[in-house]
Amino acid sequence: MVSKEVVQRLHSLREDIEHHDHRYYVLDEPEISDAEYDRLFDELLRIESNHPELVTQDSPTQRVGGKPSERFQSVEHARPMLSLEKSTSISELQSWLQRNQDFLDTKIQEFVCEPKIDGVAVSLVYNDGRLVRGATRGDGSVGEDITANVRTIKSVPLRLRGEKIPSLVEIRGEVYIPLDEFNNYNAKAIERGDKPMLNPRNGAAGSLRQIDPNVSASRPLTMFCYSLGDASEEFIPQSHAAAIESIRSWGCRTNPLVQVVKGLDACKGYIDEIYEKRVDLPYEIDGVVIKVNDLSFQRNLGNMSRRPRWAIAFKYPPEEATTSLNGIDFQVGRTGVLTPVARLEPVQVSGVTVSNATLHNIDEIERLGLKIGSKIVIRRAGDIIPQVVRVLERGAEEVQPPSTCPACNTPVVRLEDEVALRCPNGLSCPAQLKESIQHFASRTALDITGLGDKLVAQLVDAGKVKNPADLFRLTVEELSEFERLGEKSATNIVESIQNSKKTTFAKFIHSLGIRGVGETTAQTLATRFQTLPVLIEATVETLTDLEDVGPILASNIRAFFDDDGNRSVATDLTEQGVQWTVEEVLEVRPCEGETWVLTGTLESMPRQDAKAKLLRLGAKVAGSVSRKTSRVVAGAEAGSKLAKAIELEVPVLNEEEFLAFVNEHLSEGSD
Ligand code: IVH
Repeated sequence: MVSKEVVQRLHSLREDIEHHDHRYYVLDEPEISDAEYDRLFDELLRIESNHPELVTQDSPTQRVGGKPSERFQSVEHARPMLSLEKSTSISELQSWLQRNQDFLDTKIQEFVCEPKIDGVAVSLVYNDGRLVRGATRGDGSVGEDITANVRTIKSVPLRLRGEKIPSLVEIRGEVYIPLDEFNNYNAKAIERGDKPMLNPRNGAAGSLRQIDPNVSASRPLTMFCYSLGDASEEFIPQSHAAAIESIRSWGCRTNPLVQVVKGLDACKGYIDEIYEKRVDLPYEIDGVVIKVNDLSFQRNLGNMSRRPRWAIAFKYPPEEATTSLNGIDFQVGRTGVLTPVARLEPVQVSGVTVSNATLHNIDEIERLGLKIGSKIVIRRAGDIIPQVVRVLERGAEEVQPPSTCPACNTPVVRLEDEVALRCPNGLSCPAQLKESIQHFASRTALDITGLGDKLVAQLVDAGKVKNPADLFRLTVEELSEFERLGEKSATNIVESIQNSKKTTFAKFIHSLGIRGVGETTAQTLATRFQTLPVLIEATVETLTDLEDVGPILASNIRAFFDDDGNRSVATDLTEQGVQWTVEEVLEVRPCEGETWVLTGTLESMPRQDAKAKLLRLGAKVAGSVSRKTSRVVAGAEAGSKLAKAIELEVPVLNEEEFLAFVNEHLSEGSD
């Protein structure tokens, strides 16, 4: 029997969490720390796990983990989702207005102006304030039911809040991926060897149509709501602006740039203002939408077959330009991968001269059907690296993937199951050497300051640095000889190089730049092997036994240390004085045989450190929760993994409990 107090607490927790989700995801103005939020979330999860009968679909704990659907159901829109008439000049706007005024036989004064977001139109249906359906536009009359995916978008309320919520209301808007999130996502995808998203709009559309909602949840989607669809009769706003204001007051995210203006001149002012702003906006827009504000005017004007009379899009000249492909160069990255870069006939795109565009990998050349001399369309948006969109006229000259490395002439290789071409010459290839030195000096590796890419290139080209260990042999005199490097900066750099010698084994391993070994794996290896000679000798079997190390990674690591050159650089580094404290091996490892999962953000330490501690205590640290999981440590913003742990009745520790546990078993000295 559930007590009244528990039910009351559950409701008040849900309300608090919804309030803080709204502050964080919609308003971007959090009121509490992540840890405080996490405590509320944890408490709610605990109550729900003790009383599963109280779990409802709209609980904040239920955003992810919905059942994957086989395919999307079709859903009929109560009112069609229309498209917009387009205009590109003020005179077109004037005739649109004139037509409408003639139609109504009255003057139209007020307009709502909004940025036209380049994303995907989505309809949200709320029944008694609860999100019951999310759908794509489809053909305008029938869309796809993407409820499970829409529920994972944190700025979409699962339950509306505030006053006068109609019993039925459909809210429409645009789901999109912010530009910085898009760039981050793609950088990581390329590093993992996954396909990058083509552009933010395409990425948003693809993310919304994932069969598994957990995949959608991992995509950085957000939404701006811009209009009402169907609504029950008790809700009749007077104006579009009032409708948007109600939508906002119910907790939905609306665009702060929406403005009510009087007269067409003011619309023009808005169009110019947003045009100026658009390169700095954190999302892509392709114009401005102008809507008649008065809803009774809107009703009287009504719709044509596919578009309303009461709204019009003003489209900016596209951020696309036509140019020709002069050639394709191949750039060599740190691990030897050759990335194609399109060399273009320089062309102006939204005020910037563009002469290069990215092509991601050689499959892209095939996909686009690129040939040298092709007339192509390129596109530039915000801070996205220009991309080749399509070929207009095919050129004559085939793109020949290089047979040798453009930096060192070594014959390139294409590994069986890889798309990429690779130069196998390692540190003997100047391009790979430059990238490797930069990686070695980077913040998450040895953290050497002052070694910019230009200086690294000079050092490599002058033959002063042939491998990372050579950095430790550089003198102030040698460095001062380089262009624009005074004695003072040379001294600072040498000092920073010398200071970097005191490091951790994990950072040292990471600095070696072994293919596929990021910070996490480096930490796992450091904890397991402790010293360089032991790591160098590790067999593929021992390596595969480690958490997060599959057979491919294990053989990469083995191959790295089988290479005489790599082994001697690693040893040379320790001979140059690179050192770390060897962690004392614990006699009693209380978590031996256990599998732990870390989720959410910990306030007191980076996830890596928490993992290192658990590994030292003998635990395996896994990435997902299953029946075999021994314990879950849940930090702030823990979501699906925590929900899964509760569902499977895996014991959950909050940060405080985790710290107490760790401190009990790892005394200061042995930490
Ligand atoms: S209003 C009946 N407002 O543009 C018109 N649409 O070309 C309903 N869009 O499918 C749309 N930003 O996906 C409206 N602020 C905005 C918009 C917007 C982007 C998209 C929407 C629509 C397309 C029409």
